Amino acid sequence: MAWLTALSILAVCHTGLAAYTKFPEGFTFGVATASHQIEGAWNVSGKSENVWDRLTHTRPEMIADGTNGDVACDSYHRYLEDVEELTYLGVDFYRFSLSWSRILPTGFSDHVNPDGIRYYNALLDALAEKNIEPLVTLFHWDLPQSLQDLGGWTNSKMVDYFRDYSDVCYREFGDKIKSWITINEPYEVCEDAYGDIKKAPALDSHGIGNYLCSDNLLKAHAESYHLYNEKYRPTQNGTVMISINSIWYEPSDPENAEQVALAETANQFKFGWFAHPIFTNEGGYPEVMIENVAKQSAAEGFSKPRLEQFDDYWIQRIKGTSDFLGINHYATHLITGPGVDPIAKSPSWLKDTGSITSLEVGGDSASEWLRVVPTGFANLLRWCKSSYNDPPIYITENGFSDRGTLQDYGRIQYYNDYLSAILDVIYDDGVRVLGYTAWTLMDNFEWRAGFTEPFGFYHVDITDPDLPRTPKLSADYYRQLVANRELPQDERFKDPANKYKEEL
Ligand SMILES: *[C@@H]1O[C@H](CO)[C@@H](O)[C@H](O)[C@H]1NC(C)=O
Ligand SMILES: *[C@@H]1O[C@H](CO)[C@@H](O)[C@H](O)[C@H]1NC(C)=O
Repeated sequence: MAWLTALSILAVCHTGLAAYTKFPEGFTFGVATASHQIEGAWNVSGKSENVWDRLTHTRPEMIADGTNGDVACDSYHRYLEDVEELTYLGVDFYRFSLSWSRILPTGFSDHVNPDGIRYYNALLDALAEKNIEPLVTLFHWDLPQSLQDLGGWTNSKMVDYFRDYSDVCYREFGDKIKSWITINEPYEVCEDAYGDIKKAPALDSHGIGNYLCSDNLLKAHAESYHLYNEKYRPTQNGTVMISINSIWYEPSDPENAEQVALAETANQFKFGWFAHPIFTNEGGYPEVMIENVAKQSAAEGFSKPRLEQFDDYWIQRIKGTSDFLGINHYATHLITGPGVDPIAKSPSWLKDTGSITSLEVGGDSASEWLRVVPTGFANLLRWCKSSYNDPPIYITENGFSDRGTLQDYGRIQYYNDYLSAILDVIYDDGVRVLGYTAWTLMDNFEWRAGFTEPFGFYHVDITDPDLPRTPKLSADYYRQLVANRELPQDERFKDPANKYKEEL
């Protein structure tokens, strides 16, 4: 592998030269959203409270602009406008998620909410009318509060609860949905929401809750996959995958063997934590993770490691439970050295990695964590090919945040350079990327960032009760890309004077 220096990463990502421009035959394009970020209607038609409703209502100071998802883009009432936008973009598929607490208000399958079923059927029918394939996520972070009150993903019974919820969704919608995603971004769920306060329920059980969560989440994913396989696949003939997110780590000094090894360890801790159990021949958590956590736990005075390997039954049960590797990717960070990161709590996942990280790489976005490094994406994709037996891959999220300008050259440049990186690895390295999903259709409730870091192709004016949606320049860029299956070369998509930087 040719490691680039931090300097050359910067150089490459600013030239944006596209060696290849044309996508292969059969490559598909879509755009994504998530229920809590767009639906609103948080307390109508039988929907119950989820963990994000609870967090935003009880601790509004934790949201950058004090907003919440009560109304959001009001997609519960305005889904036909969503479909109009999708039709304008011309996408092959629409990735959206189902709200667990809208479908099962108690959290359990004892009561199925007819209005929840009606809503998603109406959306699915409207998509079918426009020949837009649904790609549907069962769980995109909005856990029913009733299940959180029982411990949420730290409760081992979640394996049963998630299987029951999956069963209802496969049964009710499986005639219309042929492509499923079980869980979106398990790292964010376990580390950010249980091991930290970055996502709801913000438990901050660092180094403990995050690992309880991964044990249960991976088992729940596997049981949902097996359920589909055994009960539904014979008649519904669809596919099921998981969407794993990653910050990609590069050594800040690629000549430094220790940093190179630490970057590999960090990538195993981040991506491998959830990918290794599912996509490798041996299965189970990455060995380096088990070793590091055991070593740290002993040094910290714990009687047992805070993360232990699955037993043989679960290693086998979890292995191979994804028809595709779904990848959500946005950014690359650097590893600067061994040691305890100054921001690491004790105990914690970050301390367990044994490395110090840095954001001093790539271009800016409106999100501090989102460092623009297209070559990092190419390296992640090559690494996935070699680490996981050349899996068929869908990019299930990729996108850019700015401050909401309609002339969003920064977003266009990001898409252009990241899609160009995908073309490079498809043609030069034979990585099997089959489809691409842009995040996101329209500006929406960006979790703890509220509405301050928009990622959409459409601007949504949340100060106007009608929530008017206006296409940005990037909407036209993506529309042209999808229509021609080729990176647009139009001058009108080129930032005349690097204007977007002034707006960040
Ligand atoms: C629903 O929530 C809104 C705030 O978003 C509140 O004004 C309204 O009274 C609530 N409705 C019910 C039925 O509780
Ligand atoms: C199932 O779908 C695959 C493509 O995904 C197709 O090749 C196959 O013929 C289908 N089988 C049935 C029984 O519909």
